[in-house]
Amino acid sequence: MYFDPRPKTKKEDLYNRTKELEAFTKAIAYSPLIVVTGLRRTGKTSFLNVAMAQSQQPYTMLDLRGLPYNPSYADIIRRIEAAFNRLDRQWFSGLTDALKHLRGVSIMGNEVTFGWGKTGVDLPELFSKIDGWAAKENKHFLLAFDEIQIVRGDKWIPRLFAHIADSYRNITLVLTGSECGLMFDFLGFDNPNAPLYGRDYVQIQMENFSRQQSKDFLTSGFAQIGLPITTEIVDYAVDNLDGIVGWLTLFGSRCLSKQSATAEIVDAVVLEAGRLAREEAVKLTVNSKRYGIALNYLTQTGEASWGQIKTAIQVKMGHSITNAAVSILLNALVKTGFIVKNNDKYTIADPLLIRGIKEQPLPE
Ligand SMILES: Nc1ncnc2c1ncn2[C@@H]1O[C@H](COP(=O)(O)OP(=O)(O)O)[C@@H](O)[C@H]1O
Ligand SMILES: [Mg+2]
Repeated sequence: MYFDPRPKTKKEDLYNRTKELEAFTKAIAYSPLIVVTGLRRTGKTSFLNVAMAQSQQPYTMLDLRGLPYNPSYADIIRRIEAAFNRLDRQWFSGLTDALKHLRGVSIMGNEVTFGWGKTGVDLPELFSKIDGWAAKENKHFLLAFDEIQIVRGDKWIPRLFAHIADSYRNITLVLTGSECGLMFDFLGFDNPNAPLYGRDYVQIQMENFSRQQSKDFLTSGFAQIGLPITTEIVDYAVDNLDGIVGWLTLFGSRCLSKQSATAEIVDAVVLEAGRLAREEAVKLTVNSKRYGIALNYLTQTGEASWGQIKTAIQVKMGHSITNAAVSILLNALVKTGFIVKNNDKYTIADPLLIRGIKEQPLPE
């Protein structure tokens, strides 16, 4: 069913993404590093769940949500431990058997624990064992880190990734990030001083659905749940919710629980989605009110040039600010995926964020 709001895990619940699934399968054979990019709610986690499940390789995904920007080694070990305990049982006992003599690893029945601290697990040692096991099984172990930019404060993480990519042919690292610019900065593929500099990787982009795909997604989704919907309401929903699959799914799921598909439900979802998107932007304004000023201004104007945004900030703040400060601010907004730059004009990327800010401007 398309309208289940949780991240999808089964191929039949995942609309389209056929090209991307093929690209993923191909990449496993030759690339040590796969990066899945896309704005929030474009379906990265869903895609990855399905892609890994159908890969016929052993895989696990680390959930990094809730971790601080600068997590400790112990934090990461705990997430790895949780990820290992979610391993498909088909692989679990074989793999843990290969790890059982490793320092810091203890296995009790169906559960593995990884210690940290002085007598804890040494990650390179752990990955070396996993690699050896995967080689013996003639498999690639897929190790995914979802939303990697969350832990971007920690430089030992890209060092560990570089070590894995260089040393272990049977481990494939899979990374996702919503805040694409932040993630690439952190990984540093283009930065000569970064551990991952110059490494090859395969990038798979989760695009927004086209208008036609969005309509088809809704029409098929409603057919699945046996609820009638008129073409007018489909058009109205697509006009207002754009091609962001997360919002379309939320709409479908609301209709399912109300057992009807109406323009009022579209409006209610637009409101709810706008508020959610706005909440994410509010987190930015905690760092600096200038983010709020810039996003409020872009909401009013639709699009604006660098100079116009600078003036708007100065007027609001009542004093001048340097060009460098404006550039830092706008780059950060682009890197976090909140705004996009086209032909020297900036616009807000998610139309639902515009609706949210219109309803209640950001603090400034
Ligand atoms: N291809 C798809 N087909 C059907 N539903 C999808 C698809 N991609 C994402 N979804 C739904 O959209 C929402 C957001 O997906 P999620 O995978 O959490 O996105 P992300 O990880 O990019 O934030 C979820 O409700 C999910 O079930
Ligand atoms: Mg996700």
